[in-house]
Amino acid sequence: MCGIVGYIGERKAVPILINGLLSLEYRGYDSAGIAVLNNNSSNENNYQLEIVKDKGRVNNLKNNDKIKDLIGNVGIAHTRWATHGIPSKENSHPHIDNTGKFAVVHNGIIENYTSLRRKLINNGYKLYSETDTEVIPNLINMYYSGDILKAVSDTMKELKGSYAIEVISEFCPDKIIIAKKDSPLVIGTSEKGNYIASDIPAILTYTNKFYFLDDEEISVVQKDSVEFYDINLSQIHKSIKTIELDSQSSEKNGYEDFMLKEIYEQPNAVRETIGSRLSLSEKTNLNIDYIDFKKFNRIFIVACGTAMHAGMAAKPIFEKFCKIPTEVDVASEFRYRNPLIDEHTFCIFISQSGETADTIAAVKLAKSFSATTLSIVNVIGSSITRFSDYTIYTHAGPEIAVASTKAYTCQVTLLGILAIYMAEFLGYDDKNLQSFKLALLKLPDKLKEVLDTSKTLKKYAKKIFNQHDLYFIGRGSDYAVCMEGSLKLKEISYIHSEAYASGELKHGPIALIEKDTTIIGVITDSLTSKKTISNLEEAISRGAKVLLITNQNIDNDKIDFTVSIPPIHTLLSPIISIVPLQFFAYYIAKFKNLDVDKPRNLAKSVTVE
Ligand code: G6P
Repeated sequence: MCGIVGYIGERKAVPILINGLLSLEYRGYDSAGIAVLNNNSSNENNYQLEIVKDKGRVNNLKNNDKIKDLIGNVGIAHTRWATHGIPSKENSHPHIDNTGKFAVVHNGIIENYTSLRRKLINNGYKLYSETDTEVIPNLINMYYSGDILKAVSDTMKELKGSYAIEVISEFCPDKIIIAKKDSPLVIGTSEKGNYIASDIPAILTYTNKFYFLDDEEISVVQKDSVEFYDINLSQIHKSIKTIELDSQSSEKNGYEDFMLKEIYEQPNAVRETIGSRLSLSEKTNLNIDYIDFKKFNRIFIVACGTAMHAGMAAKPIFEKFCKIPTEVDVASEFRYRNPLIDEHTFCIFISQSGETADTIAAVKLAKSFSATTLSIVNVIGSSITRFSDYTIYTHAGPEIAVASTKAYTCQVTLLGILAIYMAEFLGYDDKNLQSFKLALLKLPDKLKEVLDTSKTLKKYAKKIFNQHDLYFIGRGSDYAVCMEGSLKLKEISYIHSEAYASGELKHGPIALIEKDTTIIGVITDSLTSKKTISNLEEAISRGAKVLLITNQNIDNDKIDFTVSIPPIHTLLSPIISIVPLQFFAYYIAKFKNLDVDKPRNLAKSVTVE
């Protein structure tokens, strides 16, 4: 995890670095720091490395008095999500070597840092932090004999694990050396200098022209040039890519929190995701015409967190319309469990950020078994898109709040469109598919409706926000939604909650029900609605209070509170029924006075295993 930024050019580095860090806080916010090469003397070659860093968020760093002393035009910066060592000033980046000549910021994990620490200590070095990163500036120092590029490449050869690094040194004040393996790094280029960041939006205000660094590549970034090398220092050529993105859409636009803004953006985000891909009169268009879907006998959907829940919601859509057995797996499990895949397997990966380490590893594994890989991603040009055979983008726009909302609804929408595309290809274009298509096209309007009805939940959230345990139950697609609703609640309100398939309640969890325990039931399928009602009644008999989210006509006066949501095709209901649960988690977190957008211990982009 962690976010890194760099700047070299004619402008002052600090404001650019702080702005970049603020936009990268979704990658972690345990501590933040900046290193700048300052020149305070009349001798233009006399540069000094100055560092300001501290525990806490980027705003803490921004308000640090010492920041105004950093006046140079070359700098690197970091916002941390702690992996090795507690969040503290000592463990904050940038880290320096023992001579204080090299400063490094790092995103990733150096897996062999224990043996590297030992090696450095045997060579007389002292290490002051608990981090894996501190070995890097010291190794660079150990290998430095006048050529920084060589010292960085020798260091890279020693590192196992993942890294995106930026290095500056008093020995070469006109350069930032950067390198990466399995962690992202982009370079934005402009006439006013060159910018480096973990993602495009962090520097999009300054330029839309980007270079993408690939694994085990090094770049020497100067104020008016960018050069690229492989790990053995052979020079390579890269071309500039122009990115059309709107930097303004990363602002709060008057909403109290990004999460609330993103919840409200869902009708539009889903409309954009549908775009011109789907119409009633024509074949679905996804620009993946080269895939021969007839050769697949199995589908795997692989992802993490909310994206995995989107996969769970979509599994029955693929099975119903494409008639191909579909399995959903957590990427961190899939990558280590020798899944049965071959050239007849279609692997779909879902990721908002496109940078989740486990999902990237899962793509690589699937490719190594000759499966066809397709990724559903929100962030344009992100790493997963470069590893997959095919990519289709959700058009959710930037999602800033750590707890995912609009990315989820867009992911399920796009999976639905993909299932339609495949069903048409396979010749299963019947009236059931047509009515599913029609329902999908109505999603933006239904989402607008559900935004209104969901607001009623504020009252209920106020009543129960102090509870310690909540349970969600549902069947089929409603169970998938319960998993996601429960995750939302845990993530931002810190309330323990669990989601169960309704029928499982009596196989254990019912023992936990006491007087006034809240159970949230989700019911959108007429075929099973009576069954879930019975399960809720069983809980009510044991003292539970029930909050019901439903689009069915359920007349039961034992239910404490009901949120009526608009009816929709059962297989698309997760896109609608999740909205009240997003609001529910949001209101509870607000009543508890918590930071909704940046919950404790979490990060939006999980770039470590
Ligand atoms: C983190 C985020 C979640 C997200 C998951 C997968 O845990 O906090 O919101 O669902 O990573 O991220 P991805 O970017 O791959 O969708």
